[in-house]
Amino acid sequence: MEAFERFLLDNLPHAESFHPHYDTALSQMLTAGGKRFRPALLLGVVRAFNPLLLDAAQHAALAVEMLHTYSLIHDDLPAMDDADLRRGFATLHTCYDEVTAILVGDALNTHAFEVLSEAPFSDHVRVRLIRILAKNGGSDGMVLGQAIDCTFEHTKLSLEEVKFLHTNKTAKLIAASLQMGAVIAGQKQLENSLYEFGIDLGLLFQIQDDILDVTQTDEEAGKPTNNDAAKNSFVTLLGIAGAMREADKLAANLTTRLENFDERLHAELSSMLLSYIYRHK
Ligand code: IPE
Ligand code: IPE
Ligand code: MG
Ligand code: MG
Ligand code: MG
Repeated sequence: MEAFERFLLDNLPHAESFHPHYDTALSQMLTAGGKRFRPALLLGVVRAFNPLLLDAAQHAALAVEMLHTYSLIHDDLPAMDDADLRRGFATLHTCYDEVTAILVGDALNTHAFEVLSEAPFSDHVRVRLIRILAKNGGSDGMVLGQAIDCTFEHTKLSLEEVKFLHTNKTAKLIAASLQMGAVIAGQKQLENSLYEFGIDLGLLFQIQDDILDVTQTDEEAGKPTNNDAAKNSFVTLLGIAGAMREADKLAANLTTRLENFDERLHAELSSMLLSYIYRHK
């Protein structure tokens, strides 16, 4: 992932003006770190099938990371999760003010699509990437998930409803990252199975995030933990042991499905994924 970090640093959003901190704030959360899970998935699929396209794929990986980072900046706002720490640093609204955090989120959201529109692919591939990111990160995807998460804080949902919430707020963007990799690599026949795998992987990822909210310290997580008590998390619904059992079941299922992928894809994804699939342990 060093290539991705280099690409990100070389392609940070900039807007020169007489604003005292807007330009710094634009890139602050992008350079703060993070696991880069979604870019790694997208690039992993491309590396498995066509390593020559990796440089071009960095544009798409960066677009996904920008959209994801915007979602975190807004998620931390006082109106949502009211968190003062993200990726080990002060959140933008604590560091500056709410206006800056809202606007930097808006800017990263739109900039992601500017990056995709300029990526070195055919028009057809560019439009497909834009559509997949918009569909999964937008009104019927991540945003819907966040809307349900925030509206039903303090109101208990059923297990099915919590799965729907997690699928939208987290799993769809993870699934989109894998599908975008398949689009870039020209692996049309794999798009659906990778997307479906990504939905379950994303569900597991959010269950683990809910578990880590209880088991990790702020320092370990780089964000405030013990923050989900009023949320519809798997832990509040099933208890920590129940959430762990659910995570174990999903992890075992994903490990088997990973083995059934084409040899190159299996090799590429399993080397990066196994540590995530079992990170709740
Ligand atoms: C946090 O995402 C929000 C969830 C969807 C659980 P990540 O856990 O990928 O956060 P970063 O990118 O590593 O900071
Ligand atoms: C947020 O989920 C997922 C997003 C779409 C941003 P969380 O609220 O659980 O994420 P963290 O724990 O703050 O990273
Ligand atoms: Mg949240
Ligand atoms: Mg949060
Ligand atoms: Mg969380």
